[in-house]
Amino acid sequence: MMSKIAIIDIPKVHDERGSLAVVEKNTVPFSIKRVYYLFDVPSDSYRGGHAHKEQQSVIIALSGSFEVTLDDGKTTKKIILNKPTQGLYISTNVWREIDNFSSGAVCLVLASTEYKEAEYIRDYQDFKNQFEG
Ligand code: TYD
Repeated sequence: MMSKIAIIDIPKVHDERGSLAVVEKNTVPFSIKRVYYLFDVPSDSYRGGHAHKEQQSVIIALSGSFEVTLDDGKTTKKIILNKPTQGLYISTNVWREIDNFSSGAVCLVLASTEYKEAEYIRDYQDFKNQFEG
């Protein structure tokens, strides 16, 4: 699991006017093809529930907090994201579920691929079956 996920510290510049965090080429271990974000998420919402065959991601809680549950087929891990200067890197083939959104939470995702439904694994049993035998 450990090599499939990582916490990335996003450099920030802070002064009396506020804070500015910067994601640039070398901040994430892939080149960013797409950025999307979840907002207006009801607190009882459940998002994710899939793995990716091709996409690597970095998830950032730009505002508020939420919980990410990760499963690499062997072990699971729960990570609370609640800092806009912390990114969660997730490699391919890791099942992720996101819930417990705080009010006003914004979940930013930096993605290594364009959107392609065919590279999603949306069935948990299909995901688990890969690790058998
Ligand atoms: P979904 O994968 O269910 O979101 P989450 O992983 O956050 O639970 O995606 C929701 C809808 O948005 C689904 O119809 C696919 C669509 N979508 C796009 O059109 N482009 C994108 O880049 C993404 C991530 C999703």
